[in-house]
Amino acid sequence: MKITIVGCGNMGLVYARAFLRYNIVTSGELLLVEKNEKRKEELKSLGLGSVVTAADPLIASSDMMIIAVKPQDIRELAPQLKAVLGKETILLTIMAGIKISLLESLLNHKHIIRAMPNSPVEIGMGITGFSANKNMSMDQIRKVENLLSTTGRTVFFEKEDMLDAVTALSGSGPAYFFYLVKSMIEAGKEMGMEEPVAAMLVKQTMLGAFHLINNANKSLDELIQTVASKGGTTEAAFSVFHKKEVGEGLSEGILAARIRAVELSAKASV
Ligand SMILES: NC(=O)c1ccc[n+]([C@@H]2O[C@H](COP(=O)([O-])OP(=O)(O)OC[C@H]3O[C@@H](n4cnc5c(N)ncnc54)[C@H](OP(=O)(O)O)[C@@H]3O)[C@@H](O)[C@H]2O)c1
Repeated sequence: MKITIVGCGNMGLVYARAFLRYNIVTSGELLLVEKNEKRKEELKSLGLGSVVTAADPLIASSDMMIIAVKPQDIRELAPQLKAVLGKETILLTIMAGIKISLLESLLNHKHIIRAMPNSPVEIGMGITGFSANKNMSMDQIRKVENLLSTTGRTVFFEKEDMLDAVTALSGSGPAYFFYLVKSMIEAGKEMGMEEPVAAMLVKQTMLGAFHLINNANKSLDELIQTVASKGGTTEAAFSVFHKKEVGEGLSEGILAARIRAVELSAKASV
């Protein structure tokens, strides 16, 4: 399979490495388009694929093109891509907030998939929500799913609008988790622990608790109940969480993130 990656910053590089790791492509089948001169030199020295310009005619025979530039760069780049994009090439965009309809009109292209990954894709533990335009066949969607799966799990959404919710939930999600971990470590420090000790207790607790969610065969409420005995310490913590409406605050924050995703997407479409 021949793949072109346009924009080889953080995310573009993640995909290049993941595709090579899973033998989806060889370095001879990978074209890398990058504008940043320093980055171009780095890419050449890494030897992951051929570093080419956006005007290179080789791009036309790509089976797949991934657009991983910043959302604000796509309008300037679009005319160049339109000139070289093969008619049958599947276009996969990961640009936050850029709707499929905008790409259809900017590139006059038929086969488009829009995906929203999250940062753990970098270590192959991400989750990516994705949606396709109406011209994509099941076979084409599966091909893209296989590619995205090299960076973690995937969830397909019939309705593209759901990608705003994906952005708010799993896209921003790692930051919510880091915030929670940080707050717990701070509490450990307040109780007199050295930071590395508090961090070890919290991180291993999160890891163990995560595996219980998947393996204990209990609902989340049941899992909470197994730790929170009546009149005990966990209950004391929960009574503060309830009073301060921590759970509601978290949900409200996530809904606010979704509203912002919708706003940014609308702004990018004008
Ligand atoms: N990072 C995440 O966790 C994440 C998650 C979900 C979605 N995304 C999406 O992924 C995309 C890439 O994010 P990123 O963090 O990888 O950004 P990034 O590190 O800035 O990478 C984008 C790269 O594209 C280059 N570029 C800009 N215009 C170009 C052009 N005309 N031709 C070729 N290359 C061009 C940039 O060069 P310059 O630096 O010179 O501009 C930069 O090296 C964004 O659209 C973002 O919304 C990111």
